[in-house]
Amino acid sequence: MFENLKPQPADKILALMQMYREDPRDQKIDLGVGVYKNAEGITPVMRAVKAAEQKVWEEQESKAYTGLAGDPAYSDAMINLILGDAVPRANIAAVATPGGTGACRQAFELVRLANPSARIFVSNPTWPNHVSILNYLGMEMVAYRYFDAETRGVDFGGMMEDLKQARPGDVVLLHGCCHNPTGANLNLVEWQAVVDLINEQGLIAMIDIAYQGFGDGLEEDAAATRLVASSVKECLIAASCSKNFGVYRERTGLLMAISQDAGQVGLNQSTLAFLNRQNYSFPPDHGARVVTTILNDADLRADWQQELEEVRLSMLGLRQQLADELQRLSGSDRFSFIAQHRGMFSRIGAAPDLVEKLRLEHGIYMVGDSRMNIAGLNVQTVPILARAIVDIGI
Ligand SMILES: Cc1ncc(COP(=O)(O)O)c(C=O)c1O
Repeated sequence: MFENLKPQPADKILALMQMYREDPRDQKIDLGVGVYKNAEGITPVMRAVKAAEQKVWEEQESKAYTGLAGDPAYSDAMINLILGDAVPRANIAAVATPGGTGACRQAFELVRLANPSARIFVSNPTWPNHVSILNYLGMEMVAYRYFDAETRGVDFGGMMEDLKQARPGDVVLLHGCCHNPTGANLNLVEWQAVVDLINEQGLIAMIDIAYQGFGDGLEEDAAATRLVASSVKECLIAASCSKNFGVYRERTGLLMAISQDAGQVGLNQSTLAFLNRQNYSFPPDHGARVVTTILNDADLRADWQQELEEVRLSMLGLRQQLADELQRLSGSDRFSFIAQHRGMFSRIGAAPDLVEKLRLEHGIYMVGDSRMNIAGLNVQTVPILARAIVDIGI
């Protein structure tokens, strides 16, 4: 049997990490993998996470199974964090999932179950895992224009034109904030136009929110998701705690199915639980319990918010420093988009041969589509990157 297996395409980011590790140069900069790193290059365990883990360790008396949907207290706390009071709780079905990836996977499976002929509209580009999971599930995908290679902002006109091709029942996948991989985001006026289009054409909104608190602030980053959730007939929201709680390996995510028809919610909830049962039975609990502990304890929550804010501001500071340095060295404003982008990533819009040149000649590693992880920089390495970008003529 095993001889029938075919090699699967290698993950480009993991291959890049390997190359970085094997690069013997002292002066090298890793802007590849999508994890937050502090100025020392470390992905720290957040203070509130450590404290909550201790609390869970002291207080937990059983590790018996939770429910198929995970602990309802986790769903409540996360719904509150993401949606505030934008949508009545009675309209929301929710299950814990293994990370945001698990939430996306379950969302796609729910769509396939409910409407096998639905097409999923994905931004071009989008997080590569969206594309590979949809391909693996055999679901039809349509790419909509998103990134404007000229301005490095959103090609909003192109996006709207492409979304107009969607048929009733098709799903529009949107990044709630901090678009990965581009860093370019819609403003709220544009979001409203997307909502109007979704409603006019009878489309289903799906939001992937993986970086709440990394862009403009916890509340600000949730604004678009709240707008969509409170304005459309039905939507799916896939959320991840990996980045904003720094619990990457604990696999902590949530999937919500929201319906304006509260009578539908019982069936939505049991279908989500069924899908969990088919794929892994019970979702992981430890990360979810830690997140719940933090969100439900005023002191831990305040400390978490403060540390998250430090993380956000440090990335904004690096963005501004890089944009300023590039302005100084190039004498032009063409890199100002770096300070306008939000989240951990920016696509700088360099051709693959220039990305390769950065790696070979300067030991600077970024993904081939020229996505760089801003958190891979620090105040000392920003000038080195800026000089390299200008020297190779990006
Ligand atoms: C857009 C987007 N969605 C979802 C995820 C899911 O992350 P995880 O499965 O680690 O929670 C990521 C992580 O990189 C992401 O960038």
